[in-house]
Amino acid sequence: MMLNNVSNTKRHILQLWLWVVLFIVKVESRCSNGCDLAFASYYVAKGSNLTYISKIFSQSIPLILKYNLQILSSDIIESGTRINVPFSCLCLNGDFLGHTFKYQTQIGDTYGKIASEVFANLTDEYWVQRVNLFKPVQIPDFAYINVTVNCTCGNRHVSKDYGLFATYPLRPGEDLKSLALNSGVPIMLLEQFNPGSNFSAGSGLVFVPAKG
Ligand SMILES: *[C@@H]1O[C@H](CO)[C@@H](O)[C@H](O)[C@H]1NC(C)=O
Ligand SMILES: *[C@@H]1O[C@H](CO)[C@@H](O)[C@H](O)[C@H]1NC(C)=O
Ligand SMILES: *[C@@H]1O[C@H](CO)[C@@H](O)[C@H](O)[C@H]1NC(C)=O
Ligand SMILES: *[C@@H]1O[C@H](CO)[C@@H](O)[C@H](O)[C@H]1NC(C)=O
Ligand SMILES: *[C@@H]1O[C@H](CO)[C@@H](O)[C@H](O)[C@H]1NC(C)=O
Repeated sequence: MMLNNVSNTKRHILQLWLWVVLFIVKVESRCSNGCDLAFASYYVAKGSNLTYISKIFSQSIPLILKYNLQILSSDIIESGTRINVPFSCLCLNGDFLGHTFKYQTQIGDTYGKIASEVFANLTDEYWVQRVNLFKPVQIPDFAYINVTVNCTCGNRHVSKDYGLFATYPLRPGEDLKSLALNSGVPIMLLEQFNPGSNFSAGSGLVFVPAKG
């Protein structure tokens, strides 16, 4: 009887430990899996073209066209518009959802320029610097560097109906109202999917539900 009690207590302690360990693991890894598809909402600057965009994101032109039926001819993409570039949204380092693109630096590139011009503010200077070993003043020409773009696969606590999202860099003049109008997503949902985002700041990333 006594023996049985002792081993019972031991078992309980062991069980308790297991729960504690599982809890810690769960708290530490902030994402477990990503999703096959997310969009990068890429603002087409003057002089940009599909060949270039295809190279930057390592995605084929036919695949990009598949998600951008508004593009009638791959030779002409209107500057000042946005296109949805498909990419896979992965759980990186068990910490956050993103995708790391490989970009070959050109003469005169800085982390800031790569973020704001090449990747059209889909990332920022700080976030590019964070994932590369080169010091900002010592970026070699024609080297391959990491460019990480954040993404999301949704939030089941907000709504289970949305699983496909565009990483959307806000531009001056845009706000919650214009975004809701253009995306067809209710204002309240946009806010709930982006807690803490300032939609009137004219910069920064938000996640906008998209249609496949
Ligand atoms: C496509 O865009 C890139 C980058 O802006 C440019 O270097 C290239 O000459 C352009 N190609 C064409 C065919 O316009
Ligand atoms: C990125 O943001 C900067 C600063 O707001 C702006 O000057 C630049 O035009 C933006 N780039 C694109 C491609 O929209
Ligand atoms: C991407 O997400 C990380 C983690 O949430 C955040 O620290 C970082 O500032 C984000 N990057 C951009 C460009 O918003
Ligand atoms: C890019 O990221 C990978 C994986 O984290 C790392 O091994 C590599 O050194 C990084 N590249 C640069 C140029 O820092
Ligand atoms: C959001 O950004 C705008 C423009 O920069 C600013 O005027 C406003 O105070 C900001 N709102 C919040 C809640 O930070």
